[in-house]
Amino acid sequence: MKNNTKVLILAAGKGTRMKSAKPKVLHELGGKSMIMHILDNCVLSGLKDIYIVLGEDKGQILNSIKNIKVKVIYQKKQLGTADAISSAKEYIGKFSGKLLILYGDMPLIKKETIKKIIKKTNNSFSLVGFVSKNPKGYGRIIKENSQIAVIEDKNASKEIKKINLCYSGILCGPSKEIFKSLNKIKKDKNTGEYLFTNIFNYLHYVEKPINILTFPENELLGVNNIKQLSHADKLLQKRIKLNHLKNGVTLLCPDSIYIYFNAKIGKDVVIEPNVFLGNNVVLKSNVRVKSNSYIEDTYINSFCEVGPTCRIRSNTQLGKNVKIGNFVEIKNSKIGNNTKINHLSYIGDSIIGTKANIGAGTITCNYDGRNKNKTIIGNNVFIGSNCSLIAPIKIGDKSFVAAGSTISSNVNKNDFSIARAKQQIIKGGRNRFLKV
Ligand code: UD1
Ligand code: CA
Repeated sequence: MKNNTKVLILAAGKGTRMKSAKPKVLHELGGKSMIMHILDNCVLSGLKDIYIVLGEDKGQILNSIKNIKVKVIYQKKQLGTADAISSAKEYIGKFSGKLLILYGDMPLIKKETIKKIIKKTNNSFSLVGFVSKNPKGYGRIIKENSQIAVIEDKNASKEIKKINLCYSGILCGPSKEIFKSLNKIKKDKNTGEYLFTNIFNYLHYVEKPINILTFPENELLGVNNIKQLSHADKLLQKRIKLNHLKNGVTLLCPDSIYIYFNAKIGKDVVIEPNVFLGNNVVLKSNVRVKSNSYIEDTYINSFCEVGPTCRIRSNTQLGKNVKIGNFVEIKNSKIGNNTKINHLSYIGDSIIGTKANIGAGTITCNYDGRNKNKTIIGNNVFIGSNCSLIAPIKIGDKSFVAAGSTISSNVNKNDFSIARAKQQIIKGGRNRFLKV
């Protein structure tokens, strides 16, 4: 049945209300662009034939679309939503199945809802709306007897503005009939645009029922400006966090935590307040992320404790039961099971074995001004406090590096290494410097 449905997503608008140089549909929420949210959900709902109408920003938007096959339709001039759909006519005008029309700025629509809309559209049209407490800016749906109209906010009288049943931009129905009625739409006098919503003046001539389907506003809202994007982002965060809570994750003060869409979090994980989990984070079971930590592109195995106030990024992997403490930054590194890096360290481009102890203030000096170099530390290594490990360097298993050392030559297995100026003592020498 689904193969008999094509989806057309409109995303050619200039998005001027965003007041941003970035194309509107590339603005992100929960770490994913609006357009990718919609596309992913189209694919997940089983749609295979995806058409997308793009304008001047075509190249930029296409570059950002990953792993999804879309057919692009170019709308030369943004003359309105009806014109955008008309530009698809030469590609799908003759298609005899169902057409689902979506707008590119409705990032919160769920796959289940897409499925329901398609399922409920049988030899009929489905006009999708929602009830809003604050309907300003939306087209209002009016139903009188069997006649349905959508009046744009800009064209609405005071009375119509009071209506809170809003049009979402979604229409599903027999594709050919939609294109036929579309031909009849004239330029709107007030806005100078070809408004898709005027299709309802003509669609009723087709003798097929037009059903109004409603879903919650928090799935169908449109994003026209940054304030609305921020609101949608907040709703998405709520959704993401609710899912994690349902899966046995504890979030302390959840409103203060931000989690990207693709975080994978195991059971009995505890996340403390003010934590940011960015792109591609995996936290296996029983991990505890303490307050104010910033983690992205990182895999953390079970029973680790990280933070408070740490930064872990760029393809880092922590083994089981690793402890990362406060003011520690780790980048592009692999840390073995049971290793501790508890205070004030920078570990970059490193591989550290199991049961190692990296003392407070120890730093891997991975950058020589030209290249990034590797630090390799073995198992059961003890590195004292405040060491500088100048990469490329290897520190063998069970070796010991004394506190305050600057290490630039490899240290072998079982060896002790110290590299600091020798301490001198001048007996009673204090009086040379101070009189009292
Ligand atoms: C539109 C609807 C309104 C509805 C609201 C829901 C129309 C005329 N109005 O208003 O009834 O309540 O969405 O959010 O449809 N686009 C193009 N080419 C164009 C113009 C727009 O591709 O020439 C695309 C935009 O990129 C956008 C979508 O169409 O993704 C909707 O356009 P937008 O300007 O956001 O319409 P709204 O004013 O929000
Ligand atoms: Ca919109």
